[in-house]
Amino acid sequence: MTLYEEYYKTPSFKRARKRKQGQTPIIDFDRHTTLKNIGKGRTYHLATYGCQGNEADSEAIKGIFESLGFKEAAGEETADVILLNTCVIRANAENRVFGELGRLKQYKRHNPDLLLGICGCMPQDESVMDRLLKDYPYVDIVFGTHNIHRLPEILENAVLNKERVVEVLSDEGSIVEAMPKKRAHPTKAWVNIMFGCDEFCTYCVVPYTRGKERSRSPEAILEEVDALVEEGYKEITLLGQNVNAYGRDFSARDYTFADLLNALNEKPIARVRFTTSHPNDFDDAAIAALAKGGNMMPHIHLPVQSGSNKILKKMNRKYTRESFLTLIGKLKEAIPGVSITTDLIVGFPGEEQEDFEETLSLVKESEFEGAFTFIYSPRKGTPSAKYPDHTPMDAKKERLQTLMELVNEGYKKGHERFVGEVVSVLVDGKSKQDSNMLAGYSPHNKLVHFEGDASLVGRIVDVRIVEAKTWFMKGERL
Ligand code: SAH
Ligand code: SF4
Ligand code: F3S
Repeated sequence: MTLYEEYYKTPSFKRARKRKQGQTPIIDFDRHTTLKNIGKGRTYHLATYGCQGNEADSEAIKGIFESLGFKEAAGEETADVILLNTCVIRANAENRVFGELGRLKQYKRHNPDLLLGICGCMPQDESVMDRLLKDYPYVDIVFGTHNIHRLPEILENAVLNKERVVEVLSDEGSIVEAMPKKRAHPTKAWVNIMFGCDEFCTYCVVPYTRGKERSRSPEAILEEVDALVEEGYKEITLLGQNVNAYGRDFSARDYTFADLLNALNEKPIARVRFTTSHPNDFDDAAIAALAKGGNMMPHIHLPVQSGSNKILKKMNRKYTRESFLTLIGKLKEAIPGVSITTDLIVGFPGEEQEDFEETLSLVKESEFEGAFTFIYSPRKGTPSAKYPDHTPMDAKKERLQTLMELVNEGYKKGHERFVGEVVSVLVDGKSKQDSNMLAGYSPHNKLVHFEGDASLVGRIVDVRIVEAKTWFMKGERL
């Protein structure tokens, strides 16, 4: 049996949980595939749900579609292939996609040749796949996070051979280089530096859906950045579930996240960002690399999840409230004015009112300038799904509301501190609220609106901040 025959149908968390020592296979995408013409005269529509990792995957998926001759459809109504790149991090992420499938089914009535596909993290989840295969027989294509590079063969079987294709690998994963990419933004680019996650926070599906932690070689990353500079990109965001663990899996060399940051600081790219950081792995060398300034942007997204040591322990986050606050102190000292944002979960099993209050006090002490806040969502197959949970949903919703009000004060304060100052803004485009205004981001990752000509889009310009709102700052171009 080949690997694909052995693993191809349904995912298994048991298999996905395995972490073997040893080299990660590196595969080069076959750019000279003989399947180059299968998309001729056909169109695709791709919708993306989930994290930046999925957005970056979608750029590769679009790149592959176009390398096979497919064109992007003007809208879903006219597409020959509709593909949803999905997420299972919380129940609402997956419910949204199930809802979408029901809606998209109607297009099949008008176009019986339409192919409907699902990829990304949903197919990697056992229980979700059970439901998908049982209740959604009209889904024609299913593949996961480990076999995006096989899209040419998958499409060959689905489009030319009219077969239903279900191909999901539950393994620790490989690294695929040289996939074509159709990037979504003309001046800002995602750059994967690592894949997978070995943290196993007790609530989280990612270590099962994305495989083990594996880092791309610094040479491959720096080469990609050189090409981006050449193409005129101004900002890169390094991607990984735990970027601070970069290089930890190299057996033959010693190269860390700090080494990578230092190498990137030498490159002629205006802005370097990264996400996501894990507090437990943020070392002094990385702090020192950021403290050098240059193209290192003074914003760090540092998810803390909870302010209660009891809950942090049950989450397997491996740090304490105290060690987290020490890290915040070091970052603020080394990088004056740094902006720190976070992720927070309320209603984790066993969270009492006093645990929640510790989260509130930690948010105040840390002076976060923004946060993504979530109600805990039990994910089947993760350890915490079995923890006893006595807090009623109403109480969890109330906690979320209280927390969001506090977090919003942080957003506003984070903007107020810039009033009167001049910040540099990488101009993204016209403001969504007011077409006379331009919008872009400051080094601290604050959204800035200002009046200006469309010719400034894609440039970095100086803007004086005149007003602070909760969700953005208003400025005037110098
Ligand atoms: N690797 C990153 C982010 C992963 S997912 C990190 O560790 O920070 C993004 C966020 O989703 C997490 O930070 C967490 O706050 C939230 N999240 C993950 N699983 C969740 C669950 N089961 N219920 C609610 N929120 C969850
Ligand atoms: Fe999930 Fe934790 Fe890994 Fe983040 S670090 S992806 S929360 S297991
Ligand atoms: Fe969702 Fe998968 Fe990202 S579960 S958050 S798309 S890694």
